[in-house]
Amino acid sequence: MPMPNRDLDSTWKYHNGTKHSYLSIRVHPHFLDWENKPLLFKIYPTLEVNRLPKDFRQTGVSALSAIASTGIAAKGKKLPTLDDIAQLLFFSAGVTRSKKFPGGETFFRAAACTGALYEIELYLVCQDLPDLPAGVYHFGAAEFGLRQLRAGDFRRLVVEATANEPTLAKAPLIVVCTGTYWRNAWKYRSRTYRHFGWDNGTLLANALAVSTSLGFPARLILGFVDQSVNALLDLDTRKEVAFSLLAVGHSSKRPPKAPVGGPLSLPLVPYSRQEVDYPAMRQMHEASSLLSKEEVTAWRKAKLGKKPAVGVKGAPILIKPVADSELPTDTIEQVIQRRGSTRKFAREPITFAQLSILLDRATRGIPADFLEPRGTQLNDLYLIVHSVEGLAPGAYSFHHATRELELLKEGDFRERAGYLGLEQELPADASVDIFFLADLHKIINQFGNRGYRATQLEAGIMGGKLYLGAYAQKLGASGLTFYDDDVVNFFSPHAKGKSAIFLVCCGHSARR
Ligand SMILES: Cc1cc2nc3c(=O)[nH]c(=O)nc-3n(C[C@H](O)[C@H](O)[C@H](O)COP(=O)(O)O)c2cc1C
Repeated sequence: MPMPNRDLDSTWKYHNGTKHSYLSIRVHPHFLDWENKPLLFKIYPTLEVNRLPKDFRQTGVSALSAIASTGIAAKGKKLPTLDDIAQLLFFSAGVTRSKKFPGGETFFRAAACTGALYEIELYLVCQDLPDLPAGVYHFGAAEFGLRQLRAGDFRRLVVEATANEPTLAKAPLIVVCTGTYWRNAWKYRSRTYRHFGWDNGTLLANALAVSTSLGFPARLILGFVDQSVNALLDLDTRKEVAFSLLAVGHSSKRPPKAPVGGPLSLPLVPYSRQEVDYPAMRQMHEASSLLSKEEVTAWRKAKLGKKPAVGVKGAPILIKPVADSELPTDTIEQVIQRRGSTRKFAREPITFAQLSILLDRATRGIPADFLEPRGTQLNDLYLIVHSVEGLAPGAYSFHHATRELELLKEGDFRERAGYLGLEQELPADASVDIFFLADLHKIINQFGNRGYRATQLEAGIMGGKLYLGAYAQKLGASGLTFYDDDVVNFFSPHAKGKSAIFLVCCGHSARR
């Protein structure tokens, strides 16, 4: 049987083929066809929508403790109610703001997303829950409601697709996150597949934190037979594919045998007049797909392993521990509602304690099937510090296992950072730019091409935590794109052989 996941050239072909460089964006400029801009929502026009309750609970859980959590133990009976589900969906993918402009309105959602295009869709697969009958549902963000795609308990199909992943097997609720290609490719073309990981990641950072605040265990599962999950949702896989699963809650019983579910063939409101296909992104997805339960089992056994502790060259700088009692207490609900992407940074310093909190809270760990044993991290953090009190401006590597910063080179790199972040002002003006780089060779050797999905997703989740960590401290943040190879060269020789994955910059907003 062919195993595209083990054909590792596919990752390199995609990753190298979608790198940005000074030259590439000049040789292949892209002009947006505004007349053909995709609709920001998936809508099933023939299905009735059941609105979700909007009287959200203030849990009182601080954002900084929610994002730091590595999960709640999966035991006992923890069944989410419809109110809990509404809260989880709103604070992960709900419309939190809108902006009117001549001729239209833009909608902004709870988590940051490249181009505000919101190409990640959410589906629920659940047992009978308080106020929600067992079924498969699509979350309609436009109306803040659910549309039932199938009636009955279909969780067993997902459990089997994960080769009986133990936590998911006892989850009363499974959230399936999908990526809709065209909705992002309209602007970003083939690079969209990277964005699936980033944008699904920021959304999951919120979802994990909100699950914790509501008292539910939640675990991210990336090992599943793609086709089984896609078929359950009846996705047209040329357009939309399942990307990740989130198991929420706990029940003592495993799901019963699932009803038979054939194709649904439901009409959809078209996203655009016409869609342009970029085959490279679909090929990357197919190359990282798992075809059988045996492949899933093997994938789950793969381990990156902890990195051997490499000593810091020079004097290590320990990030500053801050007692919980001294941390800002703004709740996760408050912080998500006020989060946005900073559009202009003031060139003002942040404190070393603020930076320490950011790094510490974003890297405590994520409950995920590809991050075992606990403490495993696929991405390495590198910093360009412009203006942090008590820390010399320069380039740093963050050793997450020992919580130490290593100074790689001292200097004022504002101008260079602006260049690295695709010649934008944001990374030049921020107080600190936090880059994610990964040893993709090692990762895909272990996990196959699906390791690439996992790497992008992990970066998006940690990036989402940085966003929330910054806003919890009344700072600003923005995700950014970058010139791939120039970033690696900038941090080399330390980063030699690694690949640039993600970038978030943080500082004081100029519009405070
Ligand atoms: C992964 C990622 C990359 C981004 N890249 C850029 C960028 O290069 N330049 C920029 O101005 N904004 C960037 N953004 C910010 C988005 O444009 C912003 O999240 C989106 O417009 C939604 O607005 P909001 O974050 O204020 O809710 C990025 C966001 C993410 C999550």
